[in-house]
Amino acid sequence: MKNLNFSVDEQKCIHCGQCIKDCMPSVLEFNENKIPKAANPERCIACGHCFSVCPVGAISIFDKKSDDAEQIYSQNPDMILNLIKSRRSCRQYKNENVSAEIINKLKNMLKWSPTGCNYHGLHFSIIDNNEVMDEFRNHVNTKILSALQNKSMKLITEKFSRYTKGFINGEDIIFRGAPHMIVVSNSIKAPCAKEDAIIALSYFELYAQSLGLGTCWCGYGQTCMKLFPELSEYLEIPEGYQSEYVMLFGYRNVNYCRTTEPFDVQITTAEKGGFEKLSATTTIKRYFWNFIR
Ligand SMILES: Cc1cc2nc3c(=O)[nH]c(=O)nc-3n(C[C@H](O)[C@H](O)[C@H](O)COP(=O)(O)O)c2cc1C
Repeated sequence: MKNLNFSVDEQKCIHCGQCIKDCMPSVLEFNENKIPKAANPERCIACGHCFSVCPVGAISIFDKKSDDAEQIYSQNPDMILNLIKSRRSCRQYKNENVSAEIINKLKNMLKWSPTGCNYHGLHFSIIDNNEVMDEFRNHVNTKILSALQNKSMKLITEKFSRYTKGFINGEDIIFRGAPHMIVVSNSIKAPCAKEDAIIALSYFELYAQSLGLGTCWCGYGQTCMKLFPELSEYLEIPEGYQSEYVMLFGYRNVNYCRTTEPFDVQITTAEKGGFEKLSATTTIKRYFWNFIR
């Protein structure tokens, strides 16, 4: 953990104690003058809640000053819901590179997704050039086609044999002709390795679509990351890390004009007194089910 450099502008501090109350690992305490101090700095998880919550901007931490921080705007919930509803998986892309400006915007948002224990250990491998993407897709497609033709890798035959014709015809079954790809990997030691990665790509997807791009979760790409270890090396995934998921992106060559109606999800609402109504047999069954999973 780098030095906290926690300081409080005593002229500004109104002694409200919000920073202390909102500090999850209890790093902060009032000193004898009712000014917050970092009494247990070793516990800090660098979440920045103290800095963010201070109503008068009196706190500075990790050399960040309130004057440098971005304002928080109130969001339009209808627009956010519309973005969620209108998100689509894109499988038709323009064969051109996304502008460096947009790629930079995407790169800069990646650090903002939440991670379990505030671990922030994610690594992102980005292919931001369609010629590199072509090299990558050709390598993978050639290997899969050869394994399918020679029946040399059981896993490949299991996963991809139904697409054999497509691979022979040169169809890009896995990467859907996308000019770009992002692979998120995490340390095998991360407390929430998979969860952190999926959250990051979910944020990425929505932001990318708000910028007018198409995206597609690429489960087949993730399968390939596991099948072919050289891909991790090519993408410079660090030692001790493993690929968690893959997402394609690029300028869309298709427009979606309206939202659809997805299947309903199951929702239940817990009620007070529910424990008294539990059936003993179901509880035991559930216990064993959790245990054997
Ligand atoms: C975890 C996950 C993995 C997916 N993998 C692929 C994939 O490998 N190839 C593909 O074309 N689509 C893939 N998809 C996209 C789904 O097939 C897609 O969500 C579905 O067709 C519904 O379309 P929509 O996302 O536009 O609502 C994946 C989606 C998710 C959430």
